[in-house]
Amino acid sequence: MKRILKLHVNGEDFEILTEIHKTLLEVLREDLGLTGTKRGCDLGTCGACTVLIDGKPHLSCLTLTADVQGKKITTIEGLAQDGQLHPLQKAFAEKGAIQCGFCTPGMILTAKALLDEDPHPSEEKVKKAISGNLCRCTGYVKIVDAILSVTDKSSES
Ligand code: FES
Ligand code: FES
Repeated sequence: MKRILKLHVNGEDFEILTEIHKTLLEVLREDLGLTGTKRGCDLGTCGACTVLIDGKPHLSCLTLTADVQGKKITTIEGLAQDGQLHPLQKAFAEKGAIQCGFCTPGMILTAKALLDEDPHPSEEKVKKAISGNLCRCTGYVKIVDAILSVTDKSSES
């Protein structure tokens, strides 16, 4: 059954006619064309589908779209501002924290939520925060380095 759903994504309001049972991951990718959010396991175990809902990381593959109407949804496409990459996006690129890139959107959004809550987390806290985001390529060291480098920069300013 189709219904009109009202969503607020990356600062824009959308009204879409879609199947009521669709997950947020499906709506973002299939109805809104926001394919930066990745479908990995579709079971809640890989973290590739992570988006921010009201600033907190959530697995969009386990989120019913109808339940997040009226909430503020942020995907990786919403991070760059005025044509400038977010500092985390720059750091991931500069530190070699991206290989195939499949985990990167979810990883960066998880890191953003952490840094918004605690701009100077310990290395252990960073590792704990990203523990639900699996990466099959990098071995995590460069990812942790990239996140910590952003915290270093913010402490200098
Ligand atoms: Fe959602 Fe893997 S696709 S956790
Ligand atoms: Fe390939 Fe993380 S860069 S899965």
